[in-house]
Amino acid sequence: MPVRVGVVGIGFMGKTHVDIHLKNGKAQLVAFCDQDPKKAAGDWAGGGGNLGDAFGKAFDPKSLRSHKTPQDLFNDPNVDLVDICLPTYLHAKHTVDALAAGKHVLCEKPLSTDVKEAQAVVNAAKKAKGFLMVAQCMRFWPEWEWLKEAVKSKRYGKVHSAVFRRFASTPTWTWENWILQPKKSGSALFDLHIHDSDYIRYVFGEPKAVFSTGNGGKATKGGIDHIVTQYLYANKSLLVTAEGGWNADPTYGFTMRYTVVFENATADFDLGRAGKVLLLHKKGAKEAETVSCRASNGWADEIDYYLDCIASGRRPAITTPADAAESVALCQAELKSVKTRKPVAFK
Ligand SMILES: NC(=O)c1ccc[n+]([C@@H]2O[C@H](COP(=O)([O-])OP(=O)(O)OC[C@H]3O[C@@H](n4cnc5c(N)ncnc54)[C@H](O)[C@@H]3O)[C@@H](O)[C@H]2O)c1
Repeated sequence: MPVRVGVVGIGFMGKTHVDIHLKNGKAQLVAFCDQDPKKAAGDWAGGGGNLGDAFGKAFDPKSLRSHKTPQDLFNDPNVDLVDICLPTYLHAKHTVDALAAGKHVLCEKPLSTDVKEAQAVVNAAKKAKGFLMVAQCMRFWPEWEWLKEAVKSKRYGKVHSAVFRRFASTPTWTWENWILQPKKSGSALFDLHIHDSDYIRYVFGEPKAVFSTGNGGKATKGGIDHIVTQYLYANKSLLVTAEGGWNADPTYGFTMRYTVVFENATADFDLGRAGKVLLLHKKGAKEAETVSCRASNGWADEIDYYLDCIASGRRPAITTPADAAESVALCQAELKSVKTRKPVAFK
């Protein structure tokens, strides 16, 4: 029996999720909700979406039940899984309401930009019948899964340094421009850079402290549009850094990279390169080796994993609600460090 899915928020990410559900045989897309009357009527043309307009001719949004409000969708007895792709400031309330209606909930990241609010959702999820998973997609990205395994297995020896970089043009597509309002999105720190903060916790564990610098730059007023953070570990010889920002000019697009120097090899990932992961300077090897990973992406694979969890009655463990709240807390520590220009203790 496929999992019956309702998507709330048919914007950039909602359309990306719709496309994934349509292609995954474990899901049956049955309903959606969007406050925009045009979208509610089934006209989803225009706007962004990570996979472009990939619906094909066979899919007609009018074939889905269009609910007037998110709560109507939560009350729909023929929906098992509510997929929340709303603007960030609406995540916590709607996640709690959907859990209270007995649904499984996939909520886009970040869970919140406020630790207390995130913790309240974690508490609601503990009591809920449905499973909550926050879409921290880097934990599922094939080349990032490969890196995690390489670090944990010590196949190439210990890690000396790990540098993560994520840059984007200023996002301009969102509904009412919510993303460039720091109170609504947490700006690039909570929207973009949290991908790396969360992944760093996942692979290297909790840092003792963070030391960050950042600025508002061109995109928002009062937000952090560009940040550089050093994650300080008890092991002083481990250097972990992440830099992220969305101040780049419109033609820049998007880049996502890592360079990890192990004792016996260097791994370099570039989303925009044909061979995305290169292993360089591997002891004894004369040429760089291209690492082969499955041809997929973190969005499709996180949803596939979550559908499997629901089908088998297993709570998602790769990323838990508590993990999502901790990553919000880490970003908040980074924000404090930017403001104070001092290292801030974390764990
Ligand atoms: N995981 C990723 O890589 C990734 C990438 C992009 C965005 N996101 C996240 O996805 C979320 C959505 O971002 P987006 O870029 O799709 O935003 P968006 O502005 O493109 O889409 C939001 C949609 O929600 C609808 N909406 C707003 N309020 C509503 C309400 N009360 N009821 C029903 N519909 C409502 C809007 O009409 C719009 O269609 C954000 O939290 C963002 O951080 C994640």
